[in-house]
Amino acid sequence: TKTQVAIIGAGPSGLLLGQLLTKAGIDNIILERKSGDYVLSRIRAGVLEQGTADLIREAGAGARMDKEGIIHTGTDFSFQGEHHHLDLEKYSGGKHVIVYGQTEVTRDLMEEREKAGGVTVYEADNVKLHDIDSDNPYVTYHHNDEPFRIDCDYIAGCDGFHGVTRKSIPHDKLVEYEKVYPFGWLGLMSDTPPVHDELVYCAHERGFALCSMRSETRSRYYLQVPDTDTIDNWDEDKFWDELKRRIPPEMAERLVTGPALEMSIAPLRSYVCETMQYGKVFLLGDAAHIVPPTGAKGLNLAASDVETAFRLFVKIYNEGRTDLIPRYQEICLARVWKAVRFSWWMTMFLHRFESAGRFDFRVQQAEFDYFIHSEAGKTTIAENYVGLPFEALE
Ligand code: FAD
Ligand code: DHB
Repeated sequence: TKTQVAIIGAGPSGLLLGQLLTKAGIDNIILERKSGDYVLSRIRAGVLEQGTADLIREAGAGARMDKEGIIHTGTDFSFQGEHHHLDLEKYSGGKHVIVYGQTEVTRDLMEEREKAGGVTVYEADNVKLHDIDSDNPYVTYHHNDEPFRIDCDYIAGCDGFHGVTRKSIPHDKLVEYEKVYPFGWLGLMSDTPPVHDELVYCAHERGFALCSMRSETRSRYYLQVPDTDTIDNWDEDKFWDELKRRIPPEMAERLVTGPALEMSIAPLRSYVCETMQYGKVFLLGDAAHIVPPTGAKGLNLAASDVETAFRLFVKIYNEGRTDLIPRYQEICLARVWKAVRFSWWMTMFLHRFESAGRFDFRVQQAEFDYFIHSEAGKTTIAENYVGLPFEALE
């Protein structure tokens, strides 16, 4: 088989890029290791920036998001149970975010791809990249134990942090940065009404907690847990009890609890691979960078990489602008590092560090007090949270 762009991974990055390329008449094939149902069973992000939502609309997959997504013009914080509201719209010059699950974004993109007749090979095993710095790169894989080969012009690595694409770049060419945090997030999804109509980011001496949602009837909650904890250390009752201790008392009183639809622990890390392009290979989304979830930036950063890669492919195929290829990582990294910084800062701002002493706790308290009461502080949180602008490709 021959295609123009071979896309590895059918998460949000791969599906969004595939859909935009198909709409622009650029041929592409997606190879995904797992089944479609497995991809849809992973519960992850919940907050979309306006730029991300616009790109989903451009890909023709925004109808259900615009109908069912919940516009949030503010977000809330609490420190030791004291509740504060941040007017995102006011402090970001009129912007908002949309609460709409990654699962739903993925489902909508999958449906549109099927309608458009786009090819996605699920359960593609043993994907390998070949001759990536030549003019004739190709990808091989197995499906139902049968070997296949795809010849292509470019390869888009949308295969997440553990994917094969980044590992195919010669190791001595990779420039990487990493920071691991000594805790994870334990998430719980339940069909219960959200405790508040906005998200609540709670700093507490027992650890961070987040109250989020997927709809008016479905809640998503997270607790900071030590990185030594496994899911066996927890059950639903223990989760709800601990959540009640960390959120404002008036919310704990009205919290509706219920059976967990899902419970899982995600470790927190910051990671950047600055080599986002090598030969004919591009890295997008989690394949190139990981942020701790605190700033709700992971999926949104993936979308901004897709935006840049898509504009680049259009210029390459329509105008022969291969000279713009080195601009890809320049443009992406400027935005990536700012989101990495914000996610790191939100993590340090709101989490409890075992290593911190009484002094550090007081400083954290003062920092919270300062940011939440200062116009400058509120502006800096709001403009980062709603998303920094996308840079044009030129
Ligand atoms: P992925 O979603 O990881 O998709 C990669 C795909 O590639 C997968 O389907 C995988 O199966 C496939 N793949 C892997 N290896 C191979 C291979 N060898 N061959 C073929 N296919 C392969 N982000 C936000 O913006 N806001 C949030 O609120 C938020 N909350 C989060 C909460 C949690 C608990 C977690 C874990 C993450 C959260 N994120 C959030 C981050 C967000 O989910 C990720 O940034 C996003 O999934 C990245 O999309 P992606 O398509 O780049 O990678
Ligand atoms: C969700 C996850 C986040 O990391 C975040 O900052 C906000 C919301 C969520 O899954 O709903």
